[in-house]
Amino acid sequence: MSTNTLVPTHTPTETDRTDSPLFRPARLGGLRLANRLVMAPMTRNRASATGVPEAITATYYAQRASAGLIIAEATTPNAVGATYPNIPAIHDDSHVAGWRTVTEAVRAAGGQMFLQLQHGGRVGHPETSGHHPLAPSPVPMPGTIVTPSGHRENVVPRAMTEQEIGATVADFAAAARRAVDAGFAGVEIHAANGYLLHQFLSRHTNHRTDGYGGSVANRVRLTVEVVRAVVEAIGAERVGVRVAPGVTANAMAEDDVEDVYPALLGALDGLGLAYLHVVFADPDQPLFRTLREAWSGPLIANPALPWPGPLPADGGRDAAERLLDAGADLVSLGRSFLANPDLVTRLRTGAPLNPIRDAHLMYVGGETGYTDYPALDPTLG
Ligand SMILES: Cc1cc2nc3c(=O)[nH]c(=O)nc-3n(C[C@H](O)[C@H](O)[C@H](O)COP(=O)(O)O)c2cc1C
Repeated sequence: MSTNTLVPTHTPTETDRTDSPLFRPARLGGLRLANRLVMAPMTRNRASATGVPEAITATYYAQRASAGLIIAEATTPNAVGATYPNIPAIHDDSHVAGWRTVTEAVRAAGGQMFLQLQHGGRVGHPETSGHHPLAPSPVPMPGTIVTPSGHRENVVPRAMTEQEIGATVADFAAAARRAVDAGFAGVEIHAANGYLLHQFLSRHTNHRTDGYGGSVANRVRLTVEVVRAVVEAIGAERVGVRVAPGVTANAMAEDDVEDVYPALLGALDGLGLAYLHVVFADPDQPLFRTLREAWSGPLIANPALPWPGPLPADGGRDAAERLLDAGADLVSLGRSFLANPDLVTRLRTGAPLNPIRDAHLMYVGGETGYTDYPALDPTLG
């Protein structure tokens, strides 16, 4: 029997002030999740200069272990894929050892984690990675990017050779093996938000004339090859995929999402993956229904909350419940988990949320705005 089924086995207890489906246990891949709230992957730039996660990162994730699942932040599978300063990596033994301390801390706190694998493609800079960025085509990102020595103009990326594409696929598979070795329950392949795989999906950034560009079938090819290689390396039930149809992050533009994403899901659906993760999912949009129909496995939806700007007072709970009603199996929240280590309790009880401190989200490092968001006093209420 497939393990990719979500089994509601909830029995309301006294501490539940609500019987919302958000707080019902679920199965995902080989995991049993305590609730349907997933901590979305969020880059926080707190790793060492060589990409090793440090003790504060173990503290940060362990504080948030009551999420049904944590998807740890974008982590580069090779050196050239590094995007920003102090991004974590997972391509050598020091990275595995660093991440192991994180997964052990989270497991000790009762949590479960996947690791997001992200290759930046054109989103990167030689001053950060030590390598010239590689992308589908030499289409630069407009504007500047943060490097260790400040903002720099984006460079024109070099188009990947087919050999470099093959090596990248192998790097994703090796990184996935290392992630499992480091104690992660699985990995999420980042095909969203304007990074390498998304750049291949869009004809705005992919001008190739070989088997990886042009037609929809060609543009989805790299993502499918990466996912297949990672499945072969660690098993389908340990693999999720994140997509962001039409999202304009990192100057991304797509004009044929109705063709690209059904084709991509069609190629991935039979593999028995742990999940599909959809960014900024809107249950009122036909595309959400199209994706739900095209995907027979578990679906994690990330609601479209106001961005930027203050989060809704309910932390996204209403939007999350609407997505479950519309057919999502789990819901991921980003900023609400970032600012509220005990978000699950707060959403369940209706307790007020900590405001987010925007100045400390990324690039600054340190404990402020990272590990110092307070939890509710457990002796109250
Ligand atoms: C500080 C920050 C860092 C982020 N880094 C990542 C990332 O590493 N990978 C990714 O797929 N999305 C990333 N995102 C997007 C979030 O996963 C999520 O999709 C977004 O915050 C919207 O969810 P929310 O409204 O619940 O915050 C990041 C968002 C924030 C605020």
